[in-house]
Amino acid sequence: MNLVFLGPPGAGKGTQAKKLAEEKGYIHISTGDLLREAVRKGTPLGKKAREYMERGELVPDDLMVALIEEVFPEGGGVILDGFPRTIPQARALDEMLDKKGAVLDLAVLFDLPDEVVVERLSGRRSCPNCGAVYHMKYNPPKEDEMCDRCGVKLIQREDDREEVIRERLRVYRTRTAPLVDYYRDKGILITLDASGQIEEVYSRLKRAIDEKGD
Ligand code: AP5
Repeated sequence: MNLVFLGPPGAGKGTQAKKLAEEKGYIHISTGDLLREAVRKGTPLGKKAREYMERGELVPDDLMVALIEEVFPEGGGVILDGFPRTIPQARALDEMLDKKGAVLDLAVLFDLPDEVVVERLSGRRSCPNCGAVYHMKYNPPKEDEMCDRCGVKLIQREDDREEVIRERLRVYRTRTAPLVDYYRDKGILITLDASGQIEEVYSRLKRAIDEKGD
């Protein structure tokens, strides 16, 4: 199956995508992670994307579509986390899959109120080395602010400052939320209650996917 994970920033898309990919063998493609890596390495894409990301705005569609075309694997079996984020991106994805003879099976909407989003994002820390994601209250590292896997000091993302979080939420509502209707009209949308503990959300997610997959 090919899946899209949709939803506001901080709803837990990345956390759940990593778990599902690890257990079920999906390939997890996070456009946010790919862009952050490009920024870190100073590639041409990273140089173009950096300012948009720091302001909480979307990177232009043409750059994003080119990135997805480059990384999407031939065999599919993918979780797209953070792509598409606009209607033109969704149309470009449909065209790309069509050419490959593949389909999008499900779009999972992570549903979470804004106040919980802000709490999740302000407590988030990530490992600059392996990309592992923690939450200082809900999913803390074993040792204070150090990655469990690499022992490296955890960092707070530049775009997890409060004013940038608000801009990301605004951008989500205006540019990305229209995808909910886009996928509902295609009959492939599932809405997932993304509140509660990580394991609780994960069980709900697997149940929802299994039901649709049957
Ligand atoms: P991106 O990295 O995709 O950011 P996002 O969509 O804003 O998503 P987040 O990574 O913030 O949240 P998430 O839902 O993955 O939550 P997480 O699992 O980490 O994009 C960043 C930027 O890149 C964009 O702003 C844009 O500029 C650019 N970009 C990317 N894709 C683009 C595209 N297609 N087009 C244009 N521009 C693009 O969880 C959050 C926190 O909560 C963590 O601390 C986690 O530990 C914790 N947590 C998770 N689940 C739970 C739970 N159940 N209970 C308690 N805590 C939890």
